[in-house]
Amino acid sequence: MKEISIRFAGAACRIVIGGRLRDLGRSLARIFPGGPRCLIVTHPRLKTLYGRSIERSVRRSGMRPAFALIPEGETAKNLSAARDLYRKCLAEKLDRSSVILAFGGGVVGDTAGFVAATYLRGLPLVQVPTTLLAMVDSSIGGKTGVDLPQAKNFIGAFHQPKLVWIDPALLASLPEREIRNGLAEVIKYGVIADRDLFGILERSGPLQAAGRRALREKMIARCAAVKARVVSRDERETRGLREILNFGHTWGHAIETFTRYRAYSHGEAVALGMRAAGAMALHLGLWTRTDQDRLTGLLRRAGLPLRLKDGLPRKRMAEILSRDKKNRSGLLRFVLPRRLGKVIVRTVPASVALKGLEAIQP
Ligand SMILES: NC(=O)c1ccc[n+]([C@@H]2O[C@H](COP(=O)([O-])OP(=O)(O)OC[C@H]3O[C@@H](n4cnc5c(N)ncnc54)[C@H](O)[C@@H]3O)[C@@H](O)[C@H]2O)c1
Ligand SMILES: [Zn+2]
Repeated sequence: MKEISIRFAGAACRIVIGGRLRDLGRSLARIFPGGPRCLIVTHPRLKTLYGRSIERSVRRSGMRPAFALIPEGETAKNLSAARDLYRKCLAEKLDRSSVILAFGGGVVGDTAGFVAATYLRGLPLVQVPTTLLAMVDSSIGGKTGVDLPQAKNFIGAFHQPKLVWIDPALLASLPEREIRNGLAEVIKYGVIADRDLFGILERSGPLQAAGRRALREKMIARCAAVKARVVSRDERETRGLREILNFGHTWGHAIETFTRYRAYSHGEAVALGMRAAGAMALHLGLWTRTDQDRLTGLLRRAGLPLRLKDGLPRKRMAEILSRDKKNRSGLLRFVLPRRLGKVIVRTVPASVALKGLEAIQP
């Protein structure tokens, strides 16, 4: 078990990696004495799998649990799901001392987190992530929110969880496609900040690392540590430091936008985006062919795509890139790898960005 504490201006967050679900109650009791109400937000499927265990653990803390269920999938991460949750908060008579506990992947975490940030102007939040992506990424850092029909993550708030409880044993029921999805982010952490993690993944194989108990915990802890370090220095994304977490995401988002989120999972799009960014860095002489080959090799072993299924039009893709939030005065802004464990942020003309696209065209 490993613990990380992050101090933010107005809040403190404890991240426990390797804690078992049945021990969660003890930690909750310490943070939330007095037996407050606790609304556990989750999906029906996860309630069936783990409902009894989580309920028992929460009860053991002295808290009074109730469940609120939201449908699965990105399409459920919207204002209507948030409104249903507000109604449930009201029906369960939650007050300012009550706690919202998000038990699920990023969809549950973002939606429940947003409700916790806004109901009664803010209730304490606990994140218990159940997907690899949520364990290494979305449960840490305090970004919460829902989608608009036209735009992903456009409504949101920063709201730090008091506790992030990561029990890697929950991944036993996660489908392999979702494991691969999370592995794209794990590989991302290796490239942006943790060369040793990259080496561990190469030695054991990424899917094997995610499957073996001790290794899995170590891998998640290293990723969580990078995310925690980055967000603690730039909580509200005002200092530009958080930008490095977007490695692979500029092309990744453009691919997701063009294919309307249908052709690739997020992790697959990020994998393609990392290869594209690597190719750009190679073109600029920032990154070596050997490192690009190592990145490609690891993505391949994680079962992530190396090339697009169908070619994408250069002109349209350049247009989509030009709308990226990171851009400055007409130049495109990219996170580019320098060497394994180190990235830099560079503005580049569209012609350089398109070198990245060339490298992943079918
Ligand atoms: N807040 C942030 O900083 C941040 C960062 C990255 C991503 N996100 C968001 O996260 C979301 C994606 O999250 P995700 O990849 O976790 O997807 P998800 O939450 O949709 O979960 C994927 C699927 O796995 C199922 N599932 C979850 N845990 C399971 C388990 N243990 N066993 C069996 N099935 C399980 C879910 O029911 C769901 O169908 C996106 O909406 C994205 O915008 C947020
Ligand atoms: Zn991502």
